[in-house]
Amino acid sequence: MSRRILVTSALPNANGPIHLGHVLEQIQTDIWVRFQRMRGNQATYVCADDTHGTATMIKAEQEGISAEALVENMRQLHLADSEGFLITHDNYYSTHSPENQHYSELIYNRLKEADLIFTEKVEQLYDPEKGLFLADRFVVGTCPRCKAPDQYGDNCEACGATYNANELIEPKSIFSGATPEMRDSEHYFFDLAKYTEFLKTWTRSDAVQDEIANKLAEWLDDGLRAWDISRDAPYFGFTIPGTTDKYFYVWMDAPIGYMASFQNLCDSRGDLNFDDYWAPDSSAEVHHFIGKDIVNFHALFWPAVLDGANFRTPTKVHTHGFLTVDGTKMSKSRGTFILAKTYLEHLNPEYLRYYFAAKLNGSADDLDLNLEDFAARVNSDLVGKVINIASRTAGFLVKQFDGVLATEIHDPELMSQFHAQVEPIAKLFEDGDTAKAMREITALADAANQYIAKHEPWNMAKDPEQRDAVQLVCSQGVNMFRCLAIFLKPTLPATAGKAEEFLNVGPLTWDDASTPLLGHSINKFKPMLQRIEGAQIQKMVEASKEPEAPTTKGSAKPEKQTKEQSKNAAEESNEITIDDFMKVQLKVARIIDAQPVEGADKLLQLTLDVGDHQRQVFSGIKAAYEAADLVGRLTVVVANLAPRKMRFGVSEGMVLAAGPGGSDIFLLSPDSGAEPGMDVK
Ligand code: MSP
Ligand code: ZN
Repeated sequence: MSRRILVTSALPNANGPIHLGHVLEQIQTDIWVRFQRMRGNQATYVCADDTHGTATMIKAEQEGISAEALVENMRQLHLADSEGFLITHDNYYSTHSPENQHYSELIYNRLKEADLIFTEKVEQLYDPEKGLFLADRFVVGTCPRCKAPDQYGDNCEACGATYNANELIEPKSIFSGATPEMRDSEHYFFDLAKYTEFLKTWTRSDAVQDEIANKLAEWLDDGLRAWDISRDAPYFGFTIPGTTDKYFYVWMDAPIGYMASFQNLCDSRGDLNFDDYWAPDSSAEVHHFIGKDIVNFHALFWPAVLDGANFRTPTKVHTHGFLTVDGTKMSKSRGTFILAKTYLEHLNPEYLRYYFAAKLNGSADDLDLNLEDFAARVNSDLVGKVINIASRTAGFLVKQFDGVLATEIHDPELMSQFHAQVEPIAKLFEDGDTAKAMREITALADAANQYIAKHEPWNMAKDPEQRDAVQLVCSQGVNMFRCLAIFLKPTLPATAGKAEEFLNVGPLTWDDASTPLLGHSINKFKPMLQRIEGAQIQKMVEASKEPEAPTTKGSAKPEKQTKEQSKNAAEESNEITIDDFMKVQLKVARIIDAQPVEGADKLLQLTLDVGDHQRQVFSGIKAAYEAADLVGRLTVVVANLAPRKMRFGVSEGMVLAAGPGGSDIFLLSPDSGAEPGMDVK
């Protein structure tokens, strides 16, 4: 029985272009969808742009266009990028759609009827000039803890403190520069707390990866609180039924956008029915692919909202980690903040599809695009191993046998190694462990190349007596290549298309890998995939580089307004300025007591004499020193580090030491002439 599967990727925000992180998710989803289709399942893949919220509204205002026009332009750009990466959405819609409004209202009304909605007054900062309530990221000011200027309203990038926006010193609205005032307004809440037990069960039902269930358990064990689902006017979104100035919070209607996109598709296709997929007793499957930053929305709020509104819950939420490039967060100054469009201007989308497939293993671990490794893997695995099998064998068949394959298999044992992998590799795709699948595929390619190298058809071809053997060996080569083309087809659809043309066959399905082609005539071999040249990658990186612009938050430069963008700006460099460095006060200290810490393997509790006073510091140097040996030693301490509350007590500073860590950590020698309390310059 074929499965009916509805699949989604997270809806990209409509306020910016998509980058390789978004592409990672769409490639992961698309590989899974294409695999399901090759297995004969009915897989439907829908997505949309996530359009609502203050950010869209403000951006449209700046550009002097309507929010509707802005989101439609962006949708076209996102769609073009996805198509460039060969993503096969059945529908790419928008959350600003009549279908989404319909389902948002329907769901809200049902939740209300089920007594799951209540209202409560909420105090929030308000920009009196702009007439706008301010989300935390729209307020900047001085950090209440370390006094760093220009910090956003929820956390400090300088010291890592988290706080409420109203605790900022001298807060300012990023839109107008005005000093925000506290105002209260009535908000609508979804009573998520009632769903704590339901979600404890649901998250342990195989609906999420184990590691995600464990993470969510931390929240669930504390009990869930109600979820604020409303925002005040002005807001770009849908008004809440029965109100004129309250809007659904963007995260309320965003996942409903999955349903809306599907409904919109059903309306244009006779073979799909909304209720078949979304009714509580549906036997169809619903799979969401998302990044780890939005797990709570998909694995807590969303299933609860669905259940509360009498819809089915997702079959599975597949969570992936974050993409880094060359080992660090994507960076504009290094040219590794690569937009989908920029990549496509320089490189073949299948290279990246393969590389991501070779890295994705079904876990939520972060995943690195190492640009050197990227070129090496694509060139060696795909061009060097897989395609090579066809290019080494096809010529003899076409020239000497009119392209007709032998009618029997030359080395049945080797061929059966390929057939034996049909189900195991399918299982790996099903489970999202494409990394292992790619390893199995390249191992088979190695076996095929060894076979060809052993028989040397190019030498046999010189001996007329070996004519039959040439056909047998080369036909086996082509059959092994065909199996690999099938296994790689979800990942490399365009190359697989070229392979189908070469093999002179219709669209390959997964089952085709179980039976060889015998006595069949193939076409002339044409190159299917070029090698990556390092220069292409270089050009892409150059094209992605953006000079680091000095940015001042809160100076009404709203193009730097979203939190995501601000994070990126901060990630552009890990250098600190001399001014930053001058803030650090280093002093010589003498260790006057050192004690092991119960329950901490690496820590020692140190009592330091800093000249005029004593302090307690927890330091991770237990592997390097016996506690007793430290007493009397000198060290350098960061004297003005804010005290930090740790599990074992408060740590008042940080001890500096040299060395790679572990047992190789060195403190100052006791006879260096330094004295406690001395400044270190
Ligand atoms: N609009 C929300 C999703 C709503 S779904 C009902 C959103 N949008 S987003 O544009 O910020 O991100 C879209 C998807 O891309 C998310 O799943 C997110 O995790 C993923 N990624 C964004 N940056 C990423 C990386 N650097 N690496 C991997 N995935 C990342 O969240
Ligand atoms: Zn701070």
